[in-house]
Amino acid sequence: MISYKKNTILCVFAIVISIANTDVFSNNREVATDLTTLLRSARSITVNKATINDPSVFNIRYFVSKTKSNFEKSAGKEFDESNILLGQLMDSIVFVIKNAKEGKYEGKWATGNYANMFLPARFARLTGLKFKELTGGKAIIRLTTSNQLLVNTENKPDQWENEVIEQKFRNPSWPKNKIHDNYTNDGFRLMLPEYYNEGCLSCHGGENGKAIHTDPVEGHLGEFGGAISVIIK
Ligand code: HEC
Repeated sequence: MISYKKNTILCVFAIVISIANTDVFSNNREVATDLTTLLRSARSITVNKATINDPSVFNIRYFVSKTKSNFEKSAGKEFDESNILLGQLMDSIVFVIKNAKEGKYEGKWATGNYANMFLPARFARLTGLKFKELTGGKAIIRLTTSNQLLVNTENKPDQWENEVIEQKFRNPSWPKNKIHDNYTNDGFRLMLPEYYNEGCLSCHGGENGKAIHTDPVEGHLGEFGGAISVIIK
């Protein structure tokens, strides 16, 4: 009888914990997804010849309001100012765009085929670095890709990212745009795959792609091109 009671109590306890965990999991998934949406909402504004060649023409107020309206369209909900991580990512975005406007990154990318260009991937990388600083490392967002397609070795995938990319995202049976997430020793992790469109191929396709990728690989329309990776500790 005693052991029956004990088991019942343990069982109830386990159920409560598992319900609580499911809740934390779905909350982390929502926040991490919102972070990827926010980064994409801002990055899409940097896909612009004028600002790529001369970031001094950025208009910060326009950039912020356009980022929010892009976010609201993609996420299908209002931008939640009270969400701490979303706010910190927005602050990181503004920090990088302001710096770019003020010429703080002049000379940062001085060599190579895309020298001195404020490219969307560069914007994303700098934003991720600032975000890591603002969150004290408690949350991370970064762009990465397959080792074969890598351009900037600082964006190299870690072991977990590499496995998700090679075994899931680059597997032809993986449904397009499907995220992968899980709890790991590093915390909650989520990755969102992205694909090459026509615009990407001018750099990542054909001979240009072979020239910039670690392996002489050319990207093709609709193929996996990279992923946004999020960690919440
Ligand atoms: C103007 C040329 C150009 C265009 C257009 C372009 N890229 Fe890139 N991409 C680069 C360069 C150069 C880098 C390395 C950036 C750096 O210095 O950090 C890069 C980096 C990346 C990265 C980060 C990982 C890595 O290899 O460093 C991803 C992912 C990526 N590009 C995907 C895309 C996708 C998807 C598109 C289209 C939506 C695109 N790129 C459009 C030139 C380009």
